[in-house]
Amino acid sequence: MNPPWSPTSWRSKPIQQQPEYPDSAHLAKVEATLASLPPLVFAGEARALRSQFAEVTQGRAFLLQGGDCAESFAEFSAPKIRDTFKVLLQMAVVMTFASGCPVVKVGRMAGQFAKPRSAGMETIDGLSLPAYRGDIVNGIDFDERSRVPDPERLMQAYHQSTASLNLLRAFAGGGFADLHQVHKWNLDFIASSALSEKYHQLADRIDQTLAFMRACGLDDAPQLRETSFFTAHEALLLNYEQAFVRQDSLTGGWYDCSAHMLWIGDRTRQVDGAHVEFLRGVGNPIGVKVGPSMDTDDLIRLNDILNPDNDPGRLNLIVRMGADKVEAGLPRLVRAVQAEGRQVLWSSDPMHGNTMKASSGYKTRDFERILAEVRQFFEVHRAEGSYPGGIHIEMTGQNVTECIGGSRPITEDGLSDRYHTHCDPRLNADQSLELAFMIAETLKRVRPA
Ligand code: PEP
Ligand code: CO
Repeated sequence: MNPPWSPTSWRSKPIQQQPEYPDSAHLAKVEATLASLPPLVFAGEARALRSQFAEVTQGRAFLLQGGDCAESFAEFSAPKIRDTFKVLLQMAVVMTFASGCPVVKVGRMAGQFAKPRSAGMETIDGLSLPAYRGDIVNGIDFDERSRVPDPERLMQAYHQSTASLNLLRAFAGGGFADLHQVHKWNLDFIASSALSEKYHQLADRIDQTLAFMRACGLDDAPQLRETSFFTAHEALLLNYEQAFVRQDSLTGGWYDCSAHMLWIGDRTRQVDGAHVEFLRGVGNPIGVKVGPSMDTDDLIRLNDILNPDNDPGRLNLIVRMGADKVEAGLPRLVRAVQAEGRQVLWSSDPMHGNTMKASSGYKTRDFERILAEVRQFFEVHRAEGSYPGGIHIEMTGQNVTECIGGSRPITEDGLSDRYHTHCDPRLNADQSLELAFMIAETLKRVRPA
C-alpha cells in the first residue's frame, strides 16, 4: 500500500534540480496567483489520453511525441507553432497510411520550458554563474542579472502556454488538420527534396482514397476533418506543477492540469524522491525516462508506486539509452516488466543518449545514430515479444541545422548556419519525415495482424 498523498506531500521528500529563488515571498505570491487562474487542460481530456495510451500499450496504436527540447520566450510565434504542428501531422499521416496503425499525437509544446542540468553552475573564462534552467526560470544570456531565477517567468510561461494551446486546439479542430489538406502540410523549404516527393506520392494516394470514399458517400466522418492533439512536458518545477493541481468535479480525482501528460526526467526519477511522489497522486498519463543507469528493481518499484492498478493507459516508459547501449541495456528491463506482468507503454527517445560535441563546439546529434537507436529499440522488442509503442523526439518545423546527417545532409561545418535551439539539438522537418518513413516501414512488420 502506498501512503496517503496530497498536492503538497512532495515537499517533505528529497528534491533535485530546483532553482534557488532569492525572493521567496515574491515566489509564494506568484504561486498563489497561478493557483487561482484557470488551468490549461480539463481532467476529462487527460482521461481521454489515458484511453488512447491503453490502445497503444495493447498494440493497437502508436504514440508520436515531439517538439522542442525547450520552448523559449523569444521564439514564440504562430508560424513556429504551426510549422511544428504541420511536421507532426505529416509524420502521423505517413505512419498511419503506410502502416495502417492509428497514431496518438502528443506535442512537447505549450509548457515545455524547464530544463534539468548536469551542473548547477556554468563557468566561462573564470566566471561562474548559475546554469540556465529554461526560460521559465532564468535567462539564457551569460550575465549575472539574467541568470537570477525570477518568479515572474512562471507567469510568462503560463500565458505563453495558454496562447500556444489555444492555437493548437484551433488547428486540430478548425480545419487545418483536415485530411483533405494533406498536401498543404508540406513545408516550402523541403519542397525540392526526395523526401518531399515521397510525401506527395503518399498524399496523392490519400487524395484518391478520399475521392473514392466521397463517391461512396462515406467522407463526412468528423475524424477526417479534425484530429486530437495532446500536450506534454517534463514535470520538473514542482511548485509550478502544484499550482495546477485541481480536483476533478466529475470523479473527485486529482489531476495536474498544466498539460495532458507529464513525464519525469532521467535525473529526477528517484523512487523516494519528490518528483515520483508528486506524480503518483495525479490521474494524468505519466511518463518516466529510462536511461542506461535504470535498475530493474527500481523500475518495478516505479511501476508499483506510479501504476499500482496496473492500468495500461497510465505509464509510458521512455527509453533513452543511446544507440550503443540500447541493445545491451533494454532486454533486462523488458524481461523484468514482463515477468511481473506489468502493462506499460514502451517508447523510444533516440535523442538524449546520442548527444555529442562537434569539433566546432556545437552540441549535436548524428541522425544515423538516432535511426540506429530506433531500429534497435524495435529489434529488442521483437526479440522479447513485447510491443514497441512509440517515439519521443526533439524536432521543429523550422529549417534548422542542429543534428548532422539526413537526406539533405547537414555537416559539422554547416551546424552554424541555423543553430537556434535553447537547449538540445532538434531534428528539422526533413529529418523528422525521414524518421517517420523508416518507422512506418518497421511498424508494418511488427504489428500483430
Ligand atoms: C529532455 O527530454 O529534454 C530531457 C532532459 O531528457 P532526459 O530526462 O531523458 O535527459
Ligand atoms: Co532535451
